[in-house]
Amino acid sequence: MSKVILISGASSGIGKETALSMLAKGYEVIGLSRSYPKEKQEYPYVLCDLGKPDDIDRAVEEIYALTDHIDVLVNCAGIGISGALEHNTYEEANKIMQVNVLGQFYITKKLIPLIRKAEHGKIINIGSVAGELTIPFQTFYSMSKAAMHRFTEGLRIELKPFGIGVSAVLPGDTKTGFTANRYQPQVVEDDLYKDRIKRSIQKMEQDEQNGMSPMSVVKVIDKLIKRKNMPILVTVGFSYKALVLLSRILPKRLVYWIITKMYG
Ligand SMILES: NC(=O)c1ccc[n+]([C@@H]2O[C@H](COP(=O)([O-])OP(=O)(O)OC[C@H]3O[C@@H](n4cnc5c(N)ncnc54)[C@H](OP(=O)(O)O)[C@@H]3O)[C@@H](O)[C@H]2O)c1
Repeated sequence: MSKVILISGASSGIGKETALSMLAKGYEVIGLSRSYPKEKQEYPYVLCDLGKPDDIDRAVEEIYALTDHIDVLVNCAGIGISGALEHNTYEEANKIMQVNVLGQFYITKKLIPLIRKAEHGKIINIGSVAGELTIPFQTFYSMSKAAMHRFTEGLRIELKPFGIGVSAVLPGDTKTGFTANRYQPQVVEDDLYKDRIKRSIQKMEQDEQNGMSPMSVVKVIDKLIKRKNMPILVTVGFSYKALVLLSRILPKRLVYWIITKMYG
Protein backbone atom coordinates (compact mmCIF):
# COMPACT_ATOMS: atom_id res chain seq x y z
CA MET A 1 0.00 0.00 0.00
CA SER A 2 1.55 3.33 -1.01
CA LYS A 3 2.15 5.93 1.71
CA VAL A 4 -0.24 8.85 1.47
CA ILE A 5 0.48 12.20 3.13
CA LEU A 6 -2.04 15.04 3.18
CA ILE A 7 -0.60 18.48 3.86
CA SER A 8 -2.72 21.56 4.49
CA GLY A 9 -1.13 24.93 3.82
CA ALA A 10 0.83 23.35 0.95
CA SER A 11 0.67 26.40 -1.32
CA SER A 12 3.57 28.19 0.39
CA GLY A 13 6.20 28.21 3.12
CA ILE A 14 6.61 25.21 5.42
CA GLY A 15 3.68 23.27 3.92
CA LYS A 16 4.96 23.68 0.37
CA GLU A 17 8.50 22.57 1.29
CA THR A 18 7.06 19.59 3.19
CA ALA A 19 5.01 18.58 0.13
CA LEU A 20 8.02 18.80 -2.22
CA SER A 21 10.29 16.94 0.19
CA MET A 22 7.77 14.11 0.76
CA LEU A 23 7.11 13.86 -2.97
CA ALA A 24 10.86 13.39 -3.52
CA LYS A 25 10.82 10.63 -0.88
CA GLY A 26 8.17 8.72 -2.81
CA TYR A 27 5.07 9.63 -0.84
CA GLU A 28 1.73 10.11 -2.55
CA VAL A 29 1.14 13.74 -1.63
CA ILE A 30 -2.22 15.50 -1.46
CA GLY A 31 -1.99 19.26 -0.96
CA LEU A 32 -4.71 21.53 0.43
CA SER A 33 -5.20 25.27 0.82
CA ARG A 34 -7.33 28.08 -0.61
CA SER A 35 -5.09 28.54 -3.66
CA TYR A 36 -2.69 26.41 -5.71
CA PRO A 37 1.07 26.78 -5.23
CA LYS A 38 2.54 29.35 -7.67
CA GLU A 39 4.62 26.70 -9.45
CA LYS A 40 2.76 23.87 -11.20
CA GLN A 41 2.49 21.01 -8.68
CA GLU A 42 2.76 17.37 -9.70
CA TYR A 43 0.35 15.94 -7.16
CA PRO A 44 -3.39 16.13 -6.45
CA TYR A 45 -4.44 19.40 -4.88
CA VAL A 46 -7.69 20.14 -3.04
CA LEU A 47 -8.81 23.74 -2.74
CA CYS A 48 -10.39 24.48 0.64
CA ASP A 49 -10.92 27.39 2.98
CA LEU A 50 -10.41 25.97 6.47
CA GLY A 51 -12.30 28.95 7.86
CA LYS A 52 -15.52 27.62 6.30
CA PRO A 53 -17.03 24.34 7.58
CA ASP A 54 -19.16 23.86 4.42
CA ASP A 55 -16.03 24.12 2.31
CA ILE A 56 -14.33 21.54 4.53
CA ASP A 57 -17.31 19.17 4.01
CA ARG A 58 -16.90 19.53 0.22
CA ALA A 59 -13.09 19.17 0.33
CA VAL A 60 -13.32 16.05 2.49
CA GLU A 61 -15.61 14.43 -0.10
CA GLU A 62 -12.93 15.21 -2.71
CA ILE A 63 -10.24 13.66 -0.50
CA TYR A 64 -12.31 10.49 0.03
CA ALA A 65 -12.58 10.22 -3.76
CA LEU A 66 -8.78 10.52 -4.10
CA THR A 67 -7.65 7.97 -1.52
CA ASP A 68 -8.88 5.15 0.73
CA HIS A 69 -6.32 5.84 3.48
CA ILE A 70 -4.03 8.55 4.87
CA ASP A 71 -0.73 7.60 6.53
CA VAL A 72 0.19 11.12 7.64
CA LEU A 73 -1.93 14.24 8.03
CA VAL A 74 0.10 17.43 8.43
CA ASN A 75 -2.09 20.31 9.63
CA CYS A 76 0.15 23.17 8.54
CA ALA A 77 -2.25 25.85 7.28
CA GLY A 78 -2.37 28.89 9.49
CA ILE A 79 -2.71 32.65 9.61
CA GLY A 80 -1.38 35.40 11.83
CA ILE A 81 -3.15 38.48 13.14
CA SER A 82 -1.37 41.28 14.97
CA GLY A 83 -2.47 44.37 16.87
CA ALA A 84 -3.44 45.39 20.40
CA LEU A 85 -6.23 43.33 21.97
CA GLU A 86 -8.07 46.56 22.68
CA HIS A 87 -8.09 47.26 18.94
CA ASN A 88 -8.64 43.72 17.63
CA THR A 89 -12.15 43.30 16.28
CA TYR A 90 -14.50 40.43 17.02
CA GLU A 91 -14.31 39.49 13.32
CA GLU A 92 -10.48 39.27 13.42
CA ALA A 93 -10.61 37.15 16.56
CA ASN A 94 -13.26 34.91 15.02
CA LYS A 95 -11.29 34.54 11.79
CA ILE A 96 -8.06 33.36 13.40
CA MET A 97 -9.89 30.93 15.67
CA GLN A 98 -11.90 29.59 12.71
CA VAL A 99 -8.80 28.96 10.58
CA ASN A 100 -6.14 28.06 13.17
CA VAL A 101 -8.27 26.07 15.59
CA LEU A 102 -11.81 25.09 14.54
CA GLY A 103 -10.93 24.38 10.91
CA GLN A 104 -8.03 22.17 12.04
CA PHE A 105 -10.31 20.31 14.43
CA TYR A 106 -13.04 19.87 11.83
CA ILE A 107 -10.88 18.58 8.96
CA THR A 108 -8.93 16.29 11.30
CA LYS A 109 -12.13 14.85 12.78
CA LYS A 110 -13.48 14.13 9.30
CA LEU A 111 -10.23 12.48 8.12
CA ILE A 112 -9.68 10.24 11.19
CA PRO A 113 -11.54 7.29 9.54
CA LEU A 114 -9.05 7.44 6.62
CA ILE A 115 -6.06 7.72 9.00
CA ARG A 116 -7.36 4.74 10.99
CA LYS A 117 -7.09 2.66 7.81
CA ALA A 118 -3.31 3.22 7.62
CA GLU A 119 -1.02 0.79 9.46
CA HIS A 120 0.53 3.38 11.81
CA GLY A 121 -1.36 6.59 11.05
CA LYS A 122 0.09 9.90 12.19
CA ILE A 123 -1.24 13.41 12.70
CA ILE A 124 1.32 16.23 12.88
CA ASN A 125 0.00 19.65 13.82
CA ILE A 126 2.11 22.73 13.19
CA GLY A 127 1.98 24.76 16.37
CA SER A 128 4.39 27.52 17.37
CA VAL A 129 6.78 28.60 20.09
CA ALA A 130 4.31 31.52 20.35
CA GLY A 131 1.77 28.99 21.63
CA GLU A 132 3.96 28.29 24.67
CA LEU A 133 5.11 31.89 25.21
CA THR A 134 2.47 34.56 24.68
CA ILE A 135 3.68 37.32 22.38
CA PRO A 136 1.91 40.65 23.00
CA PHE A 137 0.34 42.39 20.01
CA GLN A 138 -0.22 39.00 18.46
CA THR A 139 -1.99 37.53 21.45
CA PHE A 140 -4.77 35.95 19.37
CA TYR A 141 -2.13 34.11 17.35
CA SER A 142 -0.55 32.83 20.58
CA MET A 143 -4.01 31.82 21.86
CA SER A 144 -4.77 29.91 18.67
CA LYS A 145 -1.46 28.02 18.74
CA ALA A 146 -1.80 27.24 22.47
CA ALA A 147 -5.21 25.78 21.59
CA MET A 148 -3.55 23.64 18.87
CA HIS A 149 -1.08 22.30 21.43
CA ARG A 150 -3.89 21.33 23.81
CA PHE A 151 -5.84 19.84 20.86
CA THR A 152 -2.75 17.75 20.04
CA GLU A 153 -2.47 16.44 23.61
CA GLY A 154 -6.14 15.49 23.91
CA LEU A 155 -6.33 13.92 20.46
CA ARG A 156 -3.18 11.91 21.12
CA ILE A 157 -4.68 10.24 24.18
CA GLU A 158 -8.03 9.64 22.49
CA LEU A 159 -6.49 8.07 19.34
CA LYS A 160 -3.75 6.01 21.04
CA PRO A 161 -5.82 2.78 21.19
CA PHE A 162 -6.21 2.97 17.38
CA GLY A 163 -2.43 3.10 16.88
CA ILE A 164 -2.56 6.68 15.60
CA GLY A 165 0.28 8.93 16.77
CA VAL A 166 -0.34 12.65 17.29
CA SER A 167 2.34 15.33 17.70
CA ALA A 168 2.76 19.06 17.32
CA VAL A 169 5.84 20.69 15.80
CA LEU A 170 6.62 24.11 17.28
CA PRO A 171 8.70 26.25 14.93
CA GLY A 172 10.25 29.51 16.07
CA ASP A 173 10.76 32.37 13.61
CA THR A 174 10.83 30.93 10.10
CA LYS A 175 11.42 32.84 6.88
CA THR A 176 8.25 32.28 4.84
CA GLY A 177 5.37 34.24 3.35
CA PHE A 178 3.76 34.21 6.80
CA THR A 179 5.11 37.68 7.60
CA ALA A 180 3.60 39.29 4.49
CA ASN A 181 0.37 37.25 4.82
CA ARG A 182 -0.23 38.29 8.46
CA TYR A 183 -3.40 40.41 8.91
CA GLN A 184 -2.09 43.86 9.78
CA PRO A 185 -3.82 45.89 12.49
CA GLN A 186 -5.85 48.96 11.61
CA VAL A 187 -4.17 50.88 14.44
CA VAL A 188 -0.36 50.72 14.77
CA GLU A 189 0.12 53.90 16.75
CA ASP A 190 -2.16 56.07 18.90
CA ASP A 191 -2.08 58.35 21.94
CA LEU A 192 -2.57 55.44 24.34
CA TYR A 193 -0.21 52.79 22.98
CA LYS A 194 2.18 55.30 21.37
CA ASP A 195 4.54 53.37 19.06
CA ARG A 196 4.55 50.12 21.12
CA ILE A 197 2.41 48.19 18.59
CA LYS A 198 4.50 49.33 15.63
CA ARG A 199 7.81 48.52 17.36
CA SER A 200 6.59 45.11 18.48
CA ILE A 201 5.34 44.18 15.00
CA GLN A 202 8.57 45.44 13.42
CA LYS A 203 10.59 43.25 15.80
CA MET A 204 8.51 40.13 15.10
CA GLU A 205 8.68 40.75 11.35
CA GLN A 206 12.46 41.23 11.45
CA ASP A 207 12.89 38.08 13.55
CA GLU A 208 10.81 36.08 11.07
CA GLN A 209 12.63 37.41 8.02
CA ASN A 210 15.98 36.61 9.68
CA GLY A 211 14.58 33.30 10.87
CA MET A 212 15.35 29.71 10.01
CA SER A 213 14.62 28.16 6.66
CA PRO A 214 11.36 26.20 6.27
CA MET A 215 13.57 23.16 5.57
CA SER A 216 14.60 23.14 9.26
CA VAL A 217 10.95 22.48 10.08
CA VAL A 218 10.58 19.92 7.27
CA LYS A 219 13.54 17.95 8.69
CA VAL A 220 11.78 17.71 12.06
CA ILE A 221 8.51 16.62 10.38
CA ASP A 222 10.46 14.00 8.42
CA LYS A 223 12.12 12.65 11.58
CA LEU A 224 8.74 12.44 13.33
CA ILE A 225 7.22 10.50 10.46
CA LYS A 226 9.99 7.90 10.78
CA ARG A 227 9.60 7.52 14.56
CA LYS A 228 7.46 4.77 16.01
CA ASN A 229 6.71 6.73 19.18
CA MET A 230 6.50 10.43 18.41
CA PRO A 231 7.05 12.99 21.19
CA ILE A 232 4.03 15.15 22.06
CA LEU A 233 5.37 18.67 21.38
CA VAL A 234 8.63 19.15 19.47
CA THR A 235 10.27 22.57 19.31
CA VAL A 236 12.40 23.25 16.24
CA GLY A 237 15.98 24.49 16.71
CA PHE A 238 18.37 24.48 19.68
CA SER A 239 17.82 28.09 20.80
CA TYR A 240 14.01 27.79 20.68
CA LYS A 241 14.17 24.46 22.55
CA ALA A 242 16.22 26.22 25.26
CA LEU A 243 13.75 29.13 25.33
CA VAL A 244 10.72 26.85 25.78
CA LEU A 245 12.55 24.83 28.45
CA LEU A 246 13.56 27.97 30.35
CA SER A 247 10.01 29.31 30.14
CA ARG A 248 8.83 26.15 31.89
CA ILE A 249 11.36 26.24 34.71
CA LEU A 250 11.83 29.97 35.37
CA PRO A 251 9.25 31.92 37.40
CA LYS A 252 6.50 33.19 35.07
CA ARG A 253 7.01 36.78 36.23
CA LEU A 254 10.63 36.66 35.08
CA VAL A 255 9.70 35.04 31.77
CA TYR A 256 7.11 37.75 31.03
CA TRP A 257 9.48 40.50 32.21
CA ILE A 258 11.84 39.36 29.43
CA ILE A 259 8.98 39.09 26.89
CA THR A 260 7.87 42.61 27.84
CA LYS A 261 11.41 43.92 27.25
CA MET A 262 11.46 42.25 23.83
CA TYR A 263 7.92 42.83 22.54
CA GLY A 264 6.00 44.92 25.07
N1 LIG B 1 6.75 31.50 9.68
C1 LIG B 1 6.90 31.45 10.99
O1 LIG B 1 7.70 32.21 11.60
C2 LIG B 1 6.12 30.45 11.80
C3 LIG B 1 6.52 30.22 13.13
C4 LIG B 1 5.81 29.30 13.88
C5 LIG B 1 4.74 28.61 13.33
N2 LIG B 1 4.36 28.85 12.04
C6 LIG B 1 3.21 28.10 11.51
O2 LIG B 1 3.60 27.37 10.37
C7 LIG B 1 2.46 27.13 9.56
C8 LIG B 1 2.81 27.43 8.11
O3 LIG B 1 3.09 28.81 7.99
P1 LIG B 1 4.17 29.40 7.00
O4 LIG B 1 5.19 30.08 7.82
O5 LIG B 1 4.58 28.39 6.02
O6 LIG B 1 3.30 30.58 6.34
P2 LIG B 1 2.70 30.80 4.87
O7 LIG B 1 3.79 30.74 3.87
O8 LIG B 1 1.87 32.03 4.98
O9 LIG B 1 1.76 29.53 4.65
C9 LIG B 1 0.48 29.43 5.22
C10 LIG B 1 -0.32 28.39 4.47
O10 LIG B 1 -1.63 28.30 5.06
C11 LIG B 1 -2.60 28.38 4.04
N3 LIG B 1 -3.84 28.98 4.54
C12 LIG B 1 -4.00 30.21 5.10
N4 LIG B 1 -5.29 30.43 5.38
C13 LIG B 1 -5.96 29.31 4.99
C14 LIG B 1 -7.32 28.94 5.00
N5 LIG B 1 -8.27 29.76 5.46
N6 LIG B 1 -7.66 27.72 4.52
C15 LIG B 1 -6.72 26.89 4.02
N7 LIG B 1 -5.41 27.18 3.98
C16 LIG B 1 -5.04 28.39 4.45
C17 LIG B 1 -1.95 29.25 2.96
O11 LIG B 1 -2.48 28.99 1.68
P3 LIG B 1 -3.61 29.86 0.94
O12 LIG B 1 -3.32 31.29 1.20
O13 LIG B 1 -3.45 29.43 -0.48
O14 LIG B 1 -4.90 29.39 1.51
C18 LIG B 1 -0.51 28.74 3.01
O15 LIG B 1 -0.39 27.59 2.22
C19 LIG B 1 1.34 28.00 10.12
O16 LIG B 1 0.45 27.20 10.87
C20 LIG B 1 2.07 28.98 11.02
O17 LIG B 1 1.25 29.42 12.08
C21 LIG B 1 5.04 29.75 11.25
